[in-house]
Amino acid sequence: MTRDTGVEHPPARRPPAGADDGVVFEARDVRKVYHMGEVDVHALRGVDLDLSTGEFMVLLGPSGSGKSTLLNILGGLDVPTSGTVRYLGHDLTEDDDRALTRFRREHVGFVFQFYNLVPSLTARENVALVTEIARSPMRPDEALALVDLEDRLNHFPAQLSGGEQQRVAIARAIAKRPDVLLCDEPTGALDVETGVVVLEAIERANRELGTTTAVITHNAVIADMADRVVSLSGGLVSNVRLNETSVAARELKW
Ligand SMILES: Nc1ncnc2c1ncn2[C@@H]1O[C@H](COP(=O)(O)OP(=O)(O)OP(=O)(O)O)[C@@H](O)[C@H]1O
Ligand SMILES: [Mg+2]
Repeated sequence: MTRDTGVEHPPARRPPAGADDGVVFEARDVRKVYHMGEVDVHALRGVDLDLSTGEFMVLLGPSGSGKSTLLNILGGLDVPTSGTVRYLGHDLTEDDDRALTRFRREHVGFVFQFYNLVPSLTARENVALVTEIARSPMRPDEALALVDLEDRLNHFPAQLSGGEQQRVAIARAIAKRPDVLLCDEPTGALDVETGVVVLEAIERANRELGTTTAVITHNAVIADMADRVVSLSGGLVSNVRLNETSVAARELKW
């Protein structure tokens, strides 16, 4: 593995001394324009958003409102056209590709709607792909136990149900002990009961590992799990709601 020489990112889940206001992400006036031939698509039109240490945030909004664009920008998979995104005070918008890659590798776990597992590798090997390049990872077996898959270690993706595959994807995302877990419609392809099991795995990562978590969903019921619910509409934050108490995944009323 090559050692990067790029910008240093703050290492820990806790904000560095002097910046201990508990804010992990600070997005300011974030805009994203996609140029499609003659047409400009304004996916984000000036989003301000804070995400605090250990927080569970749910992101709601209609199709095309900019949810995935925003999550991808927070996670360093994409860059805004203008505006700033600070991670523990560090301006990600000043990072080059190499520094962003390192930021993702060291700090961010992603979970997507479709699980993106490697079909020719077992559950354990899929998780090991990530732990091999991480700094202080869990053992793959430990990560898979956290999502209740200790008895599926040697199964290939095709031998697992959709919900189990998604839990392998979550184990893979949390095995490197990321500071942030970003999930884009993690239950979108699952039935209710399976969705709850997957949400429990995400909840566990948030509560037991203290991972700051953001989950995009079309299902407003899931918002009851959140500390904060942010709604997007037409590329803008249209509403922010703080839940006084959050509901456990198992207790969600569908
Ligand atoms: N790579 C891209 N190139 C051009 N336009 C894009 C690209 N990605 C997204 N868009 C456009 O930006 C807008 C926001 O897209 P985004 O994927 O963020 O929406 P979303 O809220 O995640 O929607 P959904 O709920 O359907 O996933 C949409 O109008 C979309 O067509
Ligand atoms: Mg999306």
